[in-house]
Amino acid sequence: MRALKKAPKKVLKKALKRTPRKTLKKKSAPRIVPPVISARLNSRIALEARADGSILAVFEGHSVALGKFSAGVMDRAESLRTGLPLTSFAAGSRNADPEIDLLVRQLARHGLLEYRLGHLRDDQDQVVIEPQVPDYWPRTPKLGAAETIVLSRFAYLRRRGNEMVLESPRAGALFRICDPMIAAAIAMLSKPQKISRLRRQDGFPGNELLALLVDCQILFRLDAASGDGLRPAEGGDNLVLWDFHDLLFHTHSTEGRQANPLGGLYPHAGVIPPPPAVRPPWPGNQIDLGEFSPAPSQANSAVAKLLHERHSTRDFDDQQPITLAELARFLDSTARIQSKWKSELDFGDDGPEIEYAARPYPSGGSAYELELYLAVANCEGLARGFYHYDADRHALVPIAARTHELDAMLTSAEFAMDAPAPPQILITIAARFGRVAWKYSSIAYALILKDVGVLIQTFYLMATDMGLGGCAIGSNNIDLFEKITGIEFHVEGPVGQFAIGRGRDPEAADGPNGPGGPH
Ligand SMILES: Cc1cc2nc3c(=O)[nH]c(=O)nc-3n(C[C@H](O)[C@H](O)[C@H](O)COP(=O)(O)O)c2cc1C
Repeated sequence: MRALKKAPKKVLKKALKRTPRKTLKKKSAPRIVPPVISARLNSRIALEARADGSILAVFEGHSVALGKFSAGVMDRAESLRTGLPLTSFAAGSRNADPEIDLLVRQLARHGLLEYRLGHLRDDQDQVVIEPQVPDYWPRTPKLGAAETIVLSRFAYLRRRGNEMVLESPRAGALFRICDPMIAAAIAMLSKPQKISRLRRQDGFPGNELLALLVDCQILFRLDAASGDGLRPAEGGDNLVLWDFHDLLFHTHSTEGRQANPLGGLYPHAGVIPPPPAVRPPWPGNQIDLGEFSPAPSQANSAVAKLLHERHSTRDFDDQQPITLAELARFLDSTARIQSKWKSELDFGDDGPEIEYAARPYPSGGSAYELELYLAVANCEGLARGFYHYDADRHALVPIAARTHELDAMLTSAEFAMDAPAPPQILITIAARFGRVAWKYSSIAYALILKDVGVLIQTFYLMATDMGLGGCAIGSNNIDLFEKITGIEFHVEGPVGQFAIGRGRDPEAADGPNGPGGPH
């Protein structure tokens, strides 16, 4: 102890100095000039200035107004073509330009920017980030050398055209990997890696990229308690319940968490001929059933009649809207819980007790995971707003939704139906995914969609029976629903929609070839 205490500082210093340089060099990480994150205008977008100072973003025949700016902003915005370092317009920066900052934020809000990771004086992009959610903004959380990170089990690298893209259904952005060395470095993260160790590896992709990937949940941090980074370590129980393909299917077959255009876009028209409406018959003898079946006009039962009368209605009579009493009857007949019971899972002695409920429509595994949320635009006796249908208590519970979010939901339904006005009531069918995934492996999401189909037909038939009009809607925005309800998209979210109200003129309602035509 004494000897140590007495050791003069000088000696210690000398000892350090004497350490051979070679040894020091060997231990330290290679010197890396960090790449820079820049905001860049998507190459398909052009900026146009109007005489009144307003700037528009123009793309594929559409335009988005970005606001009014002073003269000269268009020139300064030119640098957005090659990329403007995010630090240059961040608050507190010496080069801060409030107008460019505003323009960039506006462009970002409309998903018109991409972000480049690369060296300033190098044309070669290392990585290009394409936002997938409307409010994505690159963030680089601090990563300590002692931290351990690993790839999310939802992350995947795939070929898109001639590019390699790194994606995850959890991520707010997609990463175009332009340098194969970076793809190789990312592949190493299939096993947990300590940042300090990663830094010493050849092809270390840099702290910035790792931080961006952590922010997008493509990588996640592992603490000592989360062990090996396998399935139970990532997210809470609600995420653990999801299979990879199911979460990917959910986010890529809905709007809100992916930037691909979706819906009836006829992407293969002109390349592949349209498949026929009716399957060509199998060869061989046929057994004719016609003589056993009455003509549709002479339907022989109430249900057969209802099935023949059912059609989609997209145009609603806002002078005589659906009433609260009609809505109550509709929900009572189609979705109300009729009875509840409990049953023990036969897993030996310690099987958990599972709750069940019965409703008017069938449901895979008797899960009844579907919840109804109503965006009410025009219903006599019920205020405009957003409601949850409590199927157990047969009651509507208001949920505070911001006006612009409610409007956005109703407008997108109007758009999806190519209708002249929003529906009187838009029912969003949301799934409590975990309820099905807790039991079913691999088929959980497919089962949920099948349940949605069953419920939609139940809605159609009841609406027809009550003289109301309805229409299924094939698209829905899972990000908007998350914003309104505050429920994370993987916990409970939209899987279907149905518009309902009083049809304008039941006789002239849209049939398959009617005004709305098939959608
Ligand atoms: C799953 C599903 C999704 C649908 N999505 C839409 C839609 O987004 N917009 C729309 O106007 N109609 C939609 N429809 C209605 C169909 O266009 C309609 O059922 C079809 O044209 C047959 O017409 P009918 O319902 O009047 O018999 C959908 C129907 C189903 C079953």
